[in-house]
Amino acid sequence: MAKLEPLPGTSDVWPPETERWVFLENTARRVFALYGFAELRTPILERTDVFVRSIGTDTEVVQKEMYSFHDRGGRSLTLRPEGTAGVMRAIAHQGIMPGEEKRVFYGGPMFRGERPAAGRKRQFHQIGIEAVGKCNPAVDAECAMALLHFLDEIGVVQRRFLINSRGSGEDRKRAAGVLRDFFRPQAEGMCEDCQRRLDSNVWRILDCKNPQCHGIIAKAPPILEMFGADSQAFFLEVRRILDACGVEYQVAPHLVRGLDYYQHTVFEVVCDSPHLGAQNAIAGGGRYEIELPGSRKPIQGVGFAFGVERLLMALGEPASEAAAIGPAEVYVAAVGDGTLIIALELAEKLRRAGLRVCCENEQRSMKAQMRSADKSGAELALIIGQEEAAGDQLTIKYLRESRQLTLPGNEAKTVVLEWFGRNNA
Ligand code: HAM
Repeated sequence: MAKLEPLPGTSDVWPPETERWVFLENTARRVFALYGFAELRTPILERTDVFVRSIGTDTEVVQKEMYSFHDRGGRSLTLRPEGTAGVMRAIAHQGIMPGEEKRVFYGGPMFRGERPAAGRKRQFHQIGIEAVGKCNPAVDAECAMALLHFLDEIGVVQRRFLINSRGSGEDRKRAAGVLRDFFRPQAEGMCEDCQRRLDSNVWRILDCKNPQCHGIIAKAPPILEMFGADSQAFFLEVRRILDACGVEYQVAPHLVRGLDYYQHTVFEVVCDSPHLGAQNAIAGGGRYEIELPGSRKPIQGVGFAFGVERLLMALGEPASEAAAIGPAEVYVAAVGDGTLIIALELAEKLRRAGLRVCCENEQRSMKAQMRSADKSGAELALIIGQEEAAGDQLTIKYLRESRQLTLPGNEAKTVVLEWFGRNNA
């Protein structure tokens, strides 16, 4: 049977679990639309350099986790490890005018070759938004609020919203120097990766997952203090707007996030739900500047993505109550020769009128069919026996009330549609 299992770090998602996914997707689509985000779908497969240049060569994702391969034409391709780079590629391809803003919402599978664990998968799913084209603290605050609004709607209450700044331009170079001076004398106590990062990309030390480095990192100076007036002012303005809008947040002085394209605001939502283990970051994002191969100018934007699997884990069971698809409303039973086709015709009409219908498709005993009707969750069973078929009649059985009545076919259909509050179209 091992061969039939999905690959490690990937899963089949079955109903009713899929209904929870739909609930999440629909809520995201609805809430993000309130902020002006419309859906963009980009390919899962992109040229490798789309990710390498934007995410950064010295990130875990690019160095260790990408699923890259050469196709038959010898091109290096990669299964997207995240959504932002592909969205930027699509926007750069379409073109964006100076001063124009594009707001997009996206979702779908992402791939990272990480060690599978609870809440950490190799194929996982993200939903995110990106507001592209403007560099304005108000947009950062709006994106953060869209995320928190969405989390409120789906009921993720045990959460902390962490924010920080990564500064921009010259500030980052200066801050990198200060960080190097701080970490270098302690290099011996740090992991091998961090010793290398001292020269290749010192920011990544702040994001190190190795517990060996955590004590040293905790004592590092807050990075915001290393920035000049412009970067400080940008961050203060984001905070001022969040304060004015009553958003609760914590400034996390060493939050840099794991991807190298960020500058200015970065944020993360960590969830203290008992259903989540160590992988408690359910969403992350921030402002970024991305340089794409073949594009003349870097593109700026701000956005975030959340992990669907992690969010569903954080929610535990109750979200399924808000499932998008309910059980069958009507069960159509057929007993006797020639009745099956009448049943199927009736079921089709009812479905066209908007009812969820489960229809018998074998010739089984009445008892067996009524057992299936109960199991289906339907409120009404419509029975077509030999007598009903001969007299163009239908029997309506109210499954939760143990009563039934037989009516002429058209009249019965009207009664059924009215029962569920549908028009007899
Ligand atoms: P990220 O923090 O790498 O950011 O991923 C965002 C979310 O995806 C995480 O908070 C987590 O919920 C989920 N996630 C990441 N890796 C895994 C995994 N292996 N298994 C399960 N869930 C996972 C980004 O990807 C950025 N593109 C976000 C962004 C958008 N920044 C600006 N715009």
